[in-house]
Amino acid sequence: MRSLAYLALGAVAPLVSSAADCTREFLKTSADSLVAAQAAGDPSLLKPVAATLDYRENFSPAAFKTGILATPIKIDHSRHSLDTTQCATYTELVSATGSKPYVLGVQMYFTDGAISKIDTLVTTTGDWLFNATGTLYWASREDWGTIPEAERDSRAVIQAAADAYCDIFSNKSVVVPWGRPCARLEGGIYTGTGGPNDKCDVGIPSGVALVDRRYVIDETVGAVSVFLSFSGIPDSHEFRVEKGKLRFVHTITVMTARQGKGKGRRRAVLPDRGRQEED
Ligand SMILES: *[C@@H]1O[C@H](CO)[C@@H](O)[C@H](O)[C@H]1NC(C)=O
Ligand SMILES: *[C@@H]1O[C@H](CO)[C@@H](O)[C@H](O)[C@H]1NC(C)=O
Repeated sequence: MRSLAYLALGAVAPLVSSAADCTREFLKTSADSLVAAQAAGDPSLLKPVAATLDYRENFSPAAFKTGILATPIKIDHSRHSLDTTQCATYTELVSATGSKPYVLGVQMYFTDGAISKIDTLVTTTGDWLFNATGTLYWASREDWGTIPEAERDSRAVIQAAADAYCDIFSNKSVVVPWGRPCARLEGGIYTGTGGPNDKCDVGIPSGVALVDRRYVIDETVGAVSVFLSFSGIPDSHEFRVEKGKLRFVHTITVMTARQGKGKGRRRAVLPDRGRQEED
């Protein structure tokens, strides 16, 4: 009797009816199913997907069922940010020891308890500074763990730190809350050594607009994922913020995407970025 009542209720009420019901457990279960789906190469393992899904790869509309999730990828490292305020997730995935190396960044947005939008960035050999072995090495050494409640920054402070970093690419007067240590993992290249003196304020290009920013924020780990257009190039900047200051920066930059309008600029912008990085 009781189980029948429960089933009937379950059939009527959506799994998550409002943002207030969007719990960390719910988001984690779904983000974990993304990792399982990618590992198996089976999009149907991703749950729960809404009847209408806005699915994009490298910022272009793509086919969910035949996209990257249909390719089995050995997952060596994954990490989620869970945003219960927006009901959204960000997952970083690294495959360095499988048949083909990949680094993926995935933002998922939920509506009425189901995934309604997925934005996936797919990088592999040939992309900006791509080296999955390096990404795996550094990403798995860093501590992106839970920050004690009393020391957590607000969403506004976390987003402001990310915005300051993104703004300085076009405005050198912006004051960025650099942490010390602070390290940047760009493609597979690390700006630091993992030591206490690592710095992030090294080799920032000028005159580049980082626009169309979409944020996923997890205050419990001080993380903000920003998907943006780097002068027309699909790009992910992810930050770990500790006590208001930048601790880690991860970037994923898709150079192999066929985006007509970005093509000329890509050559113009990224070699410059590279030159300054090496200074
Ligand atoms: C990739 O990174 C690893 C680890 O840092 C390094 O040993 C290797 O030489 C790098 N490969 C290339 C092609 O740069
Ligand atoms: C550049 O940043 C400074 C400091 O935040 C700000 O006052 C100024 O308005 C910015 N300039 C532009 C063109 O956005």
